[in-house]
Amino acid sequence: MPTAQAGILLPVPEQARYITFSLSNTAAMSDALHALRDLVDGENTVVGFGQTLTAALNANIPGLHSFPPITAPGLTIGITPEVVWIWLRGDDRGEILHRSRQICRALSPACALHDSVDAFKYAEGRDLSGYEDGTENPTGDAAISAAIVGQNNASLAGSSFVATQRWRHNFECFEALSEDAQDNAIGRRQSDNAELSDAPECAHVKRTAQESFSPEAFVLRRSMPWAEGNAGGLMFVAFGHSFDAFEAQLTRMVGLEDGITDALFNFTQPVSGAYYWCPPLKDGKLDLSPLGL
Ligand code: HEM
Repeated sequence: MPTAQAGILLPVPEQARYITFSLSNTAAMSDALHALRDLVDGENTVVGFGQTLTAALNANIPGLHSFPPITAPGLTIGITPEVVWIWLRGDDRGEILHRSRQICRALSPACALHDSVDAFKYAEGRDLSGYEDGTENPTGDAAISAAIVGQNNASLAGSSFVATQRWRHNFECFEALSEDAQDNAIGRRQSDNAELSDAPECAHVKRTAQESFSPEAFVLRRSMPWAEGNAGGLMFVAFGHSFDAFEAQLTRMVGLEDGITDALFNFTQPVSGAYYWCPPLKDGKLDLSPLGL
């Protein structure tokens, strides 16, 4: 029976690295992905494949497509190749580095490293703005049904679809806001994480309240802060049994539903966005059969 990659459902680790790849040689892809499969357990290393890869292999993963052009006015988002995405999870940066090098070597006949972003847990799981992130994530069976394709879809059971977006914060802009204005931008109080009953419509948690969509739009967020020098932000990562819930949330955040833009955009902006399909495991290894391999 296929099972989900366990790292999707586990809490975020202390340390992580996200690596993405572009396509360099399709003819070598089958061997490269088999070599990758031997290195991946789905728990410490979570893997996703994008639309560019499936197209190159002439494979069809129903529900997988490329990241949609949903952006706020004046915003442009960098293109990510959508070939291979890997989330390396752990608690030791040195071990993660060496695992990352091993994976790059295994994929190198077919894929070139596009981007590598180191991420970490901040305090007990906060965004770098200081707000707790993940409070309203579904848990237990609800997390599984939000994030993982069910057994009723025989060909993809145990898979997940992940939306990734790298956001860069403007810390000066955020710090220039009063404490009240910061709380109103999120819709929660930073001091005790309580939800504000009188938050404005542009507050982030009002924009994304999962139960307020029809149908309800639950995702499993596994985002982590990143930093490079004094720059930093959030690597937003949301797993779903499809991309529909994420797309409904993002559409409302950018104001396409009612003209109201999420207050987050006043101090942070997405700089990239990509979609991937995370295959299930079969006998403890990535199941590459939906790719025809
Ligand atoms: C820099 C970008 C972002 C930051 C700093 C951020 C931060 C937060 C924080 C602090 C919360 C409240 C606590 C919680 O329930 O987790 C929250 C909730 C949430 N965020 Fe974000 N978020 C970001 C981007 C996004 C994006 C792009 C989406 C989806 C398109 C999203 C979807 C959600 C959802 C679904 C909730 C829970 C809403 C609810 O049901 O109450 N977030 N976010």
